[in-house]
Amino acid sequence: MIFEKCRLKGRLLKNHIVFPAVVCFGWSAHGEMSERRLEHYRKVAKGGAGLIISEASAVNPEAMLTESQPGIWSDSFIEGYEKLAGICHAEGVPVTVQINHAGIKSVTGEPLVPGPVSSDISGRAKRAGGRARELASSEITAIEDQFAAAALRLKKAGIDGVELHGAHGFLLSYFLSPVTNKRGDEYGGSAENRARIVTDIIKKIRAGCGGEFIIGIRYGGATPSLEDGAVLAKLFEDSGCDILDISTGALGEAVPVPEKYVEFNSCVYTAIEIKKRVSIPVIASNSVGTIEKGKILVDGGLTDFAAYARNILADYDWVKKTEQGKESARCLHCRSCRWFTRAFDDCPARKREQRRAAASGN
Ligand SMILES: Cc1cc2nc3c(=O)[nH]c(=O)nc-3n(C[C@H](O)[C@H](O)[C@H](O)COP(=O)(O)O)c2cc1C
Repeated sequence: MIFEKCRLKGRLLKNHIVFPAVVCFGWSAHGEMSERRLEHYRKVAKGGAGLIISEASAVNPEAMLTESQPGIWSDSFIEGYEKLAGICHAEGVPVTVQINHAGIKSVTGEPLVPGPVSSDISGRAKRAGGRARELASSEITAIEDQFAAAALRLKKAGIDGVELHGAHGFLLSYFLSPVTNKRGDEYGGSAENRARIVTDIIKKIRAGCGGEFIIGIRYGGATPSLEDGAVLAKLFEDSGCDILDISTGALGEAVPVPEKYVEFNSCVYTAIEIKKRVSIPVIASNSVGTIEKGKILVDGGLTDFAAYARNILADYDWVKKTEQGKESARCLHCRSCRWFTRAFDDCPARKREQRRAAASGN
């Protein structure tokens, strides 16, 4: 049942609800954690989610997806993450950190790709495509080591684990897809080879951080088909991954959703299908949106966890209030989420709530 306690690698979770990675755009510079960010996570933790996955943190200063995201490329960041761990644990909430290399979407360094860039890419990736450089295999090993070193710093900080960012067009997602990875060496070709950078990273993190450290991956479960995504899932599981968070991959792949699951989008349907193929837990992400849908997923055993990003961005207490049957501020589903520009400050759901509170004198 979605509101029942559960365990993840020995950690007690208050429920099966996950606050997924959400970058707080504009809240710091130079990879700093920042007080504002810590305060944000304190509120998220108090709000009742069972597990927090902290926003994408860069493993390399030249591979940031935005200059205002946090970083974990040096020991100087350990202190900030110690504070984050302390804040979440004080509320009884385990916290993992998403770690990322922005690849072709880097805004701080050279755009990097596994191999020749496909004409299918769009947006920021397409603009960078012409400048993107193919990685040499020695560079790939170095990037694996950057992920492993980042995880070790987080372990030292008391963070419960990491989520590798293998989705949304960032570097690892480009390796995973046969459309964006045409390498001829051991990092390209077969599913096993395309997954190698990830499975190597998982093994290196496990060797450095030990058996209790949670290692997860967010990736496109339909990369580019459900069958391909399921093969990747097994490879991740076999290499020691503890939890899968299903999203979209390098090119935002989507699969048709059968009538039976018509209330869900392609991403959530993909999570349901991947769950059937693995024995590690699976998080359904992306427009789960309502507690009714979360219950269909979790209470019905279709996935292990349901993630809610924008519900919690609109109202930090959404989980608690929903469990208690209370009204909460509602996400207004802006065409592009305003948290992508100035986070909290531009969110109309927040502003509406502030006006309501001011009018009622609360
Ligand atoms: C402002 C913003 C920042 C995000 N940052 C990340 C991120 O750092 N890593 C990631 O994997 N997804 C990121 N996402 C995607 C969310 O984790 C989530 O998958 C998405 O909002 C869909 O879930 P929802 O319908 O519950 O909001 C971000 C989303 C938003 C709105």
